[in-house]
This record gives sequence, C-alpha cells and structure tokens, in this order.
Amino acid sequence: MLLLHGPNLDLLGRREPDVYGSETLADVNERATALGAELGLEVDARQSNHEGVLVDAIHEAMSDFAAVVVNPAAYTHTSVAIRDALAAIPGPVVEVHISNVHTREEFRHHSYVSPVATAVIVGAGTLGYDLALRLVATRI
Ligand code: DQA
Repeated sequence: MLLLHGPNLDLLGRREPDVYGSETLADVNERATALGAELGLEVDARQSNHEGVLVDAIHEAMSDFAAVVVNPAAYTHTSVAIRDALAAIPGPVVEVHISNVHTREEFRHHSYVSPVATAVIVGAGTLGYDLALRLVATRI
C-alpha cells in the first residue's frame, strides 16, 4: 500500500508540536512499516510538498498498490486535482488528519478528498495512521 504525506508533513515533530505532536515523519513511517509487516502489508511511504508529485504518486497507485492511506495536509482543503486522482483508485482510500480539523479554523472544515475516501480518520494524532492501516488490512 501507498502511504502518502502532503505538504509540510516533512516538518512533523518541529512544526507546531502543540497541534501535531513531537513524533517525526520518520517515526511515523517506521511505525507504519513495522505495523504493516505485522498485518501483511508492504508500506511504501512518500512525502511531497508539490501537488503534481502527489497526483503522480496516486496515478502509480492505480495499478501498483492495493490501497492508499493519505494525509493530503493543506491540499485537502484546496485540491480538486488530488481528489480526482483519488477517485480513480479502485481499492480503499483512507484519509488521515493528525489534528481534529473540525475544531480548528473554518477553512479546514471542508475536505475535497472526503467524498471519495473509503474512510476518514481525524484528530487521533499519529495513531490515526495505525488505525488506517488496520482498516486497510481488513479491506484488501
Ligand atoms: C492536517 C490538517 C491540515 O489542515 C493541515 O493543513 C495539515 C495537516 C493534519 O494532519 O491535521 O498540514 O492534514
């Protein structure tokens, strides 16, 4: 499965730790890889700050991955291109947000991605990725 992280998530651990916690992206990916192995999922983790690069990765997932777990970060609230790419994925798509976007600024309340996601996990911290992997394991 593809584990895809959007813009600024490379700064995890250093970026607004009161909102996103102190774990780094490397920590998250390491845990996801280990949990994936337990669940029989091979996890390919990628991060990009560029919308087109994220779209290209999702295109790859159409044929090369059984599922996508994605935190589109700020692009959640702006990107029709990422939504359209995810809509083409035949397998499960799980949208994850570390923070509870619904208790934050109004502009974070709307997601272009949620209507095409199999499930949405919001506000569970980085544990949300574990939950997403467990869901994927039951769906593929
Ligand atoms: C986020 C929430 C988004 O609103 C924000 O732009 C992010 C991270 C989250 O994981 O809580 O970069 O997706």
